[in-house]
Amino acid sequence: MTKAFLYSVCLFCGLALVSCSKEETTTPTAPTLYERVGGTTMVADPANSSMMIEKGRLTLRNVVDSSIMVIAADTRLAKYFPVLFAELGAGNTTGLSKLSKNFTDFMCYATGSKTYSYTGLNMKSAHDPSINSRISMKINASDFDAFVGDIGVGLAKNGVTSANNAQLVTDLVALLNTTKVDIVQQ
Ligand code: HEM
Repeated sequence: MTKAFLYSVCLFCGLALVSCSKEETTTPTAPTLYERVGGTTMVADPANSSMMIEKGRLTLRNVVDSSIMVIAADTRLAKYFPVLFAELGAGNTTGLSKLSKNFTDFMCYATGSKTYSYTGLNMKSAHDPSINSRISMKINASDFDAFVGDIGVGLAKNGVTSANNAQLVTDLVALLNTTKVDIVQQ
C-alpha cells in the first residue's frame, strides 16, 4: 500500500466523520405559529366552492370572523366602530369584508406565513383616528385587553382553548400583545 493511498483513505474517513457529526448536531427549527394553526396544507375552502385554501389561513380567517362578531356584540368596544356599524345598518358589507381580509392578512403575516403579506395600514396608523377615519377615538389599555379577550373567545369558538391547547393560546395572545405599544394611544 502506497503512502498516497493511505493518506487519501484517512482524508476520506475524516471528511465522513465531519459530515456525520454535522448532521447529528443540526438543530431542528421550531414550527412557526402559522404552521401550528394549520400551515400550508391545502384544504377545500368552505366559503368558496371549488376553491382551495391553506389550512393556516382558513383557521385564522375563521378566528378573525368569529372574533369580529364577538367584538361587535361587546358593549365596551362598540364605540370605536361607528363607521363599520353605520355601513352594516345600511346593508353595506364592503367595509366588513375589507376588515376581515386585512385582519386575516395581518394575522397570517404576523404568525409567519410566507404566502400572504399584509398591505393595510401599520398598527399605529390603523388605530389613530387622525389617520384612519374609520376608528372614532384613541384606544385605552383596558379596551385593548378586552379586545384580546374577545379574540380568545373567537379562538375557543374554533376549537382552540386553554384546556386543549394552552401553549398555542398563550403564544397567539403574546403575539397580539406585541401590538399593544402601537395600538394603545391614550
Ligand atoms: C389586538 C391587536 C389588534 C390588531 C392586530 C388589530 C388589527 C387591525 C387591522 C389589521 C385593521 C385594519 C387596518 C386597515 O384597514 O388598514 C384594524 C382596524 C381597526 N381596528 Fe384594530 N387591531 C387590534 C386591536 C384593536 C382594538 C383594541 C380596537 C378597539 C378597541 C381596534 C379597533 C379597530 C377599528 C375601529 C378599526 C377600523 C375598522 C374599520 O375598518 O371599520 N383594534 N385593526
